Amino acid sequence: MKELLNSKFTGSVSVPGDKSITHRAMMLGALTKGETKITAPLISDDTLRTLACMEALGATSRKTENDYIISSPGRDQLKSPEAQLYTGNSGTTTRLLTGLITGLGLNASMNGDSSIEKRPMDRVAAPLREMGADITLKDDKYPPIQIQSSPLHTIEYIMPVASAQVKSAILFAGLFLDGKTIIHEESPSRNHSELMLSQFGADIKTEGNSVILNGGRELVNSDIVVPGDISSAAFLMVLAAITPDSDITLNNVSLNDSRSGIIDVFEDMGVDFEITRHNNSGELYGDIRVKYTENLKPFNISGDLIPRLIDEIPVLTLLALSADGESRVDDAEELRFKETDRIRAVVDELNKIGVSFDEREDGYTVKPAEIPDISKISFKGYHDHRIIMMLIIMAISSNQEIHIDDPSAISISYPNFLDDLKSIRGDK
Ligand code: S3P
Repeated sequence: MKELLNSKFTGSVSVPGDKSITHRAMMLGALTKGETKITAPLISDDTLRTLACMEALGATSRKTENDYIISSPGRDQLKSPEAQLYTGNSGTTTRLLTGLITGLGLNASMNGDSSIEKRPMDRVAAPLREMGADITLKDDKYPPIQIQSSPLHTIEYIMPVASAQVKSAILFAGLFLDGKTIIHEESPSRNHSELMLSQFGADIKTEGNSVILNGGRELVNSDIVVPGDISSAAFLMVLAAITPDSDITLNNVSLNDSRSGIIDVFEDMGVDFEITRHNNSGELYGDIRVKYTENLKPFNISGDLIPRLIDEIPVLTLLALSADGESRVDDAEELRFKETDRIRAVVDELNKIGVSFDEREDGYTVKPAEIPDISKISFKGYHDHRIIMMLIIMAISSNQEIHIDDPSAISISYPNFLDDLKSIRGDK
C-alpha cells in the first residue's frame, strides 16, 4: 500500500463488470438451451460461486479473451445436484438460486460461509412457500436451505422490504408457471432481472411499483454486455472527491436508475462531476468523471433513495466526514442484514478515529471529522468487501497506511481494486 501514499489520483479506470448483472447472466444463460455469450462479466469470488452452482445443475462454461460462454442443455435437462451447493459469501447466489431451483422443480441443498449462515432466508422462503414450495431452513430462518420439488402456482405478493434478491427469486420461480406472477414494491429495488428476462424473451412488464410476469414462455438466448459496476466505481468516485488535485474518470459504468442514487447524492453535496452517457437499448451506462471538491454540503439519505444506493452507504459515510455539517442516513435498516451489520461496522470502525455518530436502528447522523494519525489503530474488516474497501479509501485519502485484520474479502467483488488504484496514482 505504501506506493499509494502521497498521491493524487488522475486518469481513467474501467471498473469491473456489474456483479448483479453478471450473476443474472450466468443464471439465465444456464437456463436457456444453447450458448449465451457474456461480455466483460465480473469474475470474482461471488460470481464464480454462481457459475459453479449452475455447472452443478448441468450447464457448462468456457472463457474466451473477453467473454464467458455459458452452454445449457436446456432447462428440462438440468438436474438436481448430487452434492450440497456451496454459495460462499454470496447472498445474491443463495437467494436467487433458491427461487430458480424451486421454479425448475429440482431438489437441492445449499449452504454458504459463516456470514451466509447468519443471513435471513425466511424473506425468500415466505413468498416461495406461498407459491407451493417445500423449503426447510435452519431455525426456519437461516441456511442450510433444503428445497424439495413440489407443485407450484403463481402469486400476487406485496414485498415487506425493498429487496431485489427476493423479487428476483419470486420471478425466477414464476418463470415457467402459466399465469401471472405479480409483485408490488413500496420502494423500487434494482431491476436487472426484469430487464434481462425481457431481453431473454419473457413476457414481463413494470407498471408503477409493480412487476407483472406472464409465465410459461420459453426463454431465448441473448448475448449480454456487462457494464461496469457503479458500486465498485463508488470507491474511486469518493476517493477523487476527497483527495486534493484528483480527477478520475470511470469508463462505461452502469447508470441504471435503480442503482444510481450515489449520483443524486453527489449532486446534492455539490461534488464536481460530469457524466457522458452512451446509448444502450438495455442497461444504461456512461463515463463518470469526478474531481476533488472543497466545501461539500452534508447529505440526507432516506426513503426511496435507500435501495438505489444501499451498497454505497459505507463509502458515502467518508464523504460525509468532509462535509460542512451533519449528514443523515434514515430508513436503512436493511444495512444490518448485509454481509455484516454495516451500520455497526461503519460506526465501530470510524469511532476508532474519533468520528461522532448518533446511531439509530435504521441509520445514523454523522458529524464531519478530520482523519487523525491511524498508525497505531487496528481496524476490522468483518470479511465484508465493502467495509474493507471503505477503510482503504479512508487511509489513502489521508496519506496513511492501514492495518486491517483480514483484507482478503476484496476479491468478493473487486479483485483488482489495489491494482486499479495504483494505475491512477500520480505524484503530488
Ligand atoms: C443485489 C441486491 C441488493 C444488494 C446486493 C445485490 C442483487 O440486495 O445489496 O449487493 O444483485 O439483487 P437487496 O436484496 O437488499 O436488494
